[in-house]
Amino acid sequence: MLVLVLGGNSEIGLAAAEQFAQKEKADIILASRNLEKAREQARILAKRCKVTVWAEPFDALDFDSHRQFYEKLDPKPDVVILAFGVLNNQKEAQKVFQLARNTLDSNLLGAVSILEPIAADFEQRGHGTIIGISSVAGERGRQSSYIYAASKAGLTVYLDGLRHRLWPSGARVITVLPGFVPTKMVSGRTAKFGATPLKTAGKDIYKAWKKGRHKIYTGAKMRWIMAIVRAVPEFLLLRMRNI
Ligand SMILES: NC(=O)c1ccc[n+]([C@@H]2O[C@H](COP(=O)([O-])OP(=O)(O)OC[C@H]3O[C@@H](n4cnc5c(N)ncnc54)[C@H](OP(=O)(O)O)[C@@H]3O)[C@@H](O)[C@H]2O)c1
Repeated sequence: MLVLVLGGNSEIGLAAAEQFAQKEKADIILASRNLEKAREQARILAKRCKVTVWAEPFDALDFDSHRQFYEKLDPKPDVVILAFGVLNNQKEAQKVFQLARNTLDSNLLGAVSILEPIAADFEQRGHGTIIGISSVAGERGRQSSYIYAASKAGLTVYLDGLRHRLWPSGARVITVLPGFVPTKMVSGRTAKFGATPLKTAGKDIYKAWKKGRHKIYTGAKMRWIMAIVRAVPEFLLLRMRNI
């Protein structure tokens, strides 16, 4: 088995890849814009799990390179983990459009751009699983994070549609909705609804693949917390300033 991690330095992506390496003896490709760091991560993972791991250059924002990036991969992966993403500061993104655009370009357009050639290949082969890491943030727009949330809401709906399209071919799409997972992306921030340990997130993603799930939350409690967040009436949400 071969697993491709898009955003190969993502801590959640690496935690999930490690599960595939340990439990399936999968080889891993870490596709990253920071090759030096990805090569270091590849060395660590290969040594720890006794599988082959290598790094490939990949920039989610370089849309024009994506088709060729995937065409050049040989062999092709069995599992793709879409793990890249950015979380820009909401207040700054309200003032500086380039930051808002960077969020949408990276999290949504970058995903569409790279996943379309992959989906076409999986569809034609009738094989393969795309695991898209979206976010619970996309389930409800809130003042503290609505630009990031919009990019993730778009990604979640995109993954829903891709799953529907690929279903008859045998290829699969899994949507992962993490809550707060302590990684470098959220360093300096506090968990509003509780945190999910990184290792648990990795295990949950692997289990979702193993069990053929379509959409999962990471961490045991997040499904219930989000049911409450979604159910809060709009007139109440408008008066809650700390979320
Ligand atoms: N941690 C959480 O609480 C949380 C919650 C919900 C959803 N998520 C989502 O989970 C995914 C993984 O995040 P994480 O927590 O593992 O954070 P992370 O460790 O910061 O990983 C995000 C990765 O995305 C990569 N990236 C950003 N822009 C890129 C680009 N243009 N091209 C290639 N790679 C790019 C970064 O690469 P560099 O190393 O080169 O900077 C970084 O390694 C993200 O989509 C995030 O939105 C995270």
